[in-house]
Amino acid sequence: MENNYYPFVNLPLPYDYSALEPYIDAKTMMLHHDRHLQSYINNLNELLSENPRLQRLSLEQLCRLDTGRLPYELKTGIKNNAGGVYNHRLYFESLRKPTGTGPVGMLARAIEGQFGDVKRLFDELKKAGMSVFGSGYAWLVSERGRLGIMTTKNQDNPIGIERGLCPVLTLDVWEHAYYLKHYNLRGDYIDDWWQVIDWDRANSNYAECFK
Ligand SMILES: [Fe+2]
Repeated sequence: MENNYYPFVNLPLPYDYSALEPYIDAKTMMLHHDRHLQSYINNLNELLSENPRLQRLSLEQLCRLDTGRLPYELKTGIKNNAGGVYNHRLYFESLRKPTGTGPVGMLARAIEGQFGDVKRLFDELKKAGMSVFGSGYAWLVSERGRLGIMTTKNQDNPIGIERGLCPVLTLDVWEHAYYLKHYNLRGDYIDDWWQVIDWDRANSNYAECFK
């Protein structure tokens, strides 16, 4: 991941704001990337600005940080905002304009081996996304090559929860990800999110998990 250390900057989206239309609208993408993600970046930089020791840590290390000895405010702030940056970058980077394609490469083979077919993977991811009460994420993760589905609350993420978990895809189910277009219909948003997944990127995310 580029710009993996303090000071963090908001990397531009690798596509136009309107690239995911008609599934995810340009205004949602603009607000989500330029305002919500930007806030997490600003907050994280602010929290680290007076803590040079923490500035040497990568984004992933900040997510995994054992914050036991840090003051409470700093501990909560770093966990929420480092997670906010990591989770949103993965979310945005794993989307692209709709192409109508499905899983590719070693990820496709793993999905077929474990879920039988891609429809079943989708059904389970959707169920997980729908089950998040309040704000959070559903994830496709790899644990030593084995795929799994999990959810996290707020800006928590799998890498901060357990060292062996490696994210392949993330589904942001915070209302800010869909409310402008889909109102309260999270299920419709999840159906639309599925249409704009960058499966090449998901496959390379999965391959990274083996390194
Ligand atoms: Fe979000």
